[in-house]
Amino acid sequence: MVNNSDALIQRIEQLKKEKDAVILAHYYTTPEVQSVADFLGDSLALSVKAKEINSKIILFAGVHFMAETAKVLSPDKKVLIPNPEAGCSLAESCDAIEFAAFKAQYPNHLVVSYVNTTVGVKALTDICCTSSNALQVVESIPAEQPIIFAPDRNLGGYIKKITGRDNIVLWNGACHVHEEFSLEKILELKKEHPEAKVVVHPECKATVAAVADYVGSTAGILDYCGNSEASEFIVVTESGILSEMRRKYPQKSFIPAPPIDSTCVCNECRYMKMVTLENIISCLENESPEIVLDEDTRKAAERSILNMISI
Ligand code: 13P
Ligand code: SF4
Repeated sequence: MVNNSDALIQRIEQLKKEKDAVILAHYYTTPEVQSVADFLGDSLALSVKAKEINSKIILFAGVHFMAETAKVLSPDKKVLIPNPEAGCSLAESCDAIEFAAFKAQYPNHLVVSYVNTTVGVKALTDICCTSSNALQVVESIPAEQPIIFAPDRNLGGYIKKITGRDNIVLWNGACHVHEEFSLEKILELKKEHPEAKVVVHPECKATVAAVADYVGSTAGILDYCGNSEASEFIVVTESGILSEMRRKYPQKSFIPAPPIDSTCVCNECRYMKMVTLENIISCLENESPEIVLDEDTRKAAERSILNMISI
């Protein structure tokens, strides 16, 4: 018997063909959304992929800044976002007008911004970065050159610590999911599973990153778990990544780290879960909502992303 979700998946596959569309999905979307993706990846891999795609339509199963990034890099494509309300607390913590005022206080600084920003902030940025390449981007800048790093204070603080650079000024932004992990509960889990490796996304607080065996982006964490001799991992990032981990490494075991407040599902990004099979169908059928950008802002933002890709 064909269940409802099978029927929805079949409809999406049919629409992709009819419309000449590809679906890019982030690891934090739900497993059923990941199942209709043509490309599944972290924010860096998806930005690079968006630039290479030949189809007429890109449907971005992820949050708004990711779809915007795809449009910046593929201005001739129609870029669709199934739910435009799917924002990002980190991108929203950095308003472009406030950021322009902040930047004006540091006229000699180069601006490095995390890809989790609006197109307006990217347009004010010299080099974009993702959690996969933030260290590489900062290390490509001469040591004496002062830097503004935005918007994530935790990723910025982590880069400051490992590079030993004290000439990095941080914007005070954070992600509501990654800041909620409880250090005490991770340490309790570690006692129960002494052989497990702790893998942490750099958007987590420094006290949590300090107990990690590995700190890295979602793709970095996946690779680390695959290459490690260990068979158990305590996963300190958004729980959507677990389905890909279990699919890729079925013989290993992955334990999601709990948030501080055990009554809430704070280790889930509520924005990523706003993408559903139903809104993907409606978006493909109507070719809407679509990402539309002002061309001057797009070009300025493109420069910062291309500067990143060329490193
Ligand atoms: P990645 O760069 O690891 O894909 O992370 C993006 C993100 O939004 C993490 O919260
Ligand atoms: Fe933004 Fe955090 Fe969600 Fe990532 S997990 S998309 S940083 S709100």
